[in-house]
Amino acid sequence: MPELDGTRVLVTGGSGFIGRRLVSALLAGGAEVVVADLVEHPDKAVECVVGDLCDPQVRQKVVTPGLDAVVHLAAVTSVLKSVSDPAGTYRLNVEATADLLELAREREVPAFVLASTNAVTGDVGSTPISEDLPPRPLTPYGATKAAGEMLLSAYAQSYGMHAASLRFANVYGPGMRHKDSFVPRLMRAAAAGKGVQVYGDGMQLRDYVHVDDIVQAVMLAWRVRHTGPLVVGSGRSVSVNDLIDAARQVTGAPIPVEHVPAKQGEMPAVVLDISRARALGYEPRHDLTTGMAGVWPDFSGDEEHT
Ligand SMILES: NC(=O)c1ccc[n+]([C@@H]2O[C@H](COP(=O)([O-])OP(=O)(O)OC[C@H]3O[C@@H](n4cnc5c(N)ncnc54)[C@H](O)[C@@H]3O)[C@@H](O)[C@H]2O)c1
Repeated sequence: MPELDGTRVLVTGGSGFIGRRLVSALLAGGAEVVVADLVEHPDKAVECVVGDLCDPQVRQKVVTPGLDAVVHLAAVTSVLKSVSDPAGTYRLNVEATADLLELAREREVPAFVLASTNAVTGDVGSTPISEDLPPRPLTPYGATKAAGEMLLSAYAQSYGMHAASLRFANVYGPGMRHKDSFVPRLMRAAAAGKGVQVYGDGMQLRDYVHVDDIVQAVMLAWRVRHTGPLVVGSGRSVSVNDLIDAARQVTGAPIPVEHVPAKQGEMPAVVLDISRARALGYEPRHDLTTGMAGVWPDFSGDEEHT
């Protein structure tokens, strides 16, 4: 946990899944936080500027002198949406990112952390993905995140900004009821007594990382003033079929599976080499089954939804 008293941090996308968890951790550490998001933060006590970051005026308003860091999470986050709307994806994931960086430079904000993705690397089969592989993204989502990374690299080199691009794996954890990724789909299916569609044979490997491990990595990258890309995951890949088994175990539901043809741009394997993050002090703390058990109450109705 950084010494956060007296620090002020802008979190774009701070009302989202990862953002809410990060904002809580920053506030618990004593930081002042301002959120910029299309939607209000659920905690009314959190300072929040509601607006579209594609609007230059919104960006001007939120990047203020005196900030110690910008954590930029707001993005078009869906691969499929990026394929159907590449231009809109570019406007938010590249144009807005470029302008936020420029405002950060002008207003002397010393650190910038970008939520990137291992999708920047593209398909390398089951070769472990490290920061050293060249970016070869397969979709507008991956390409726009890679472009954001390039901009951060330039701002780090040219202006001495601490600019970290954290390449998140598939993130899961409490607070993902609004998401349409595979873990919430499994949970919704279990709660409704239904099944799920699986692209291909379900043997594709993925790295699922708990949202609190992502928060840990963001705080660490900021604290150590990391600059450049950083692969952040659990470091253990499992097959989609294994994930379904874990969901069955946690929910007690049968979750039948229908296999459908794989979508374009889907990677057959994602195996992450997290040694660089580990060398900085990152250590994933959650295993998949206990982590998934923490997601289920949001969907099962066992607990009040927050
Ligand atoms: N969740 C994952 O598995 C995962 C994996 C890799 C990378 N990431 C990256 O992490 C970041 C956060 O992801 P998340 O899962 O919390 O997503 P999320 O969709 O839950 O949160 C994104 C937030 O950004 C806000 N937002 C979107 N467009 C905006 C705009 N034009 N102006 C202002 N706010 C806007 C949304 O309202 C939302 O609150 C994203 O950049 C995403 O690409 C996530």
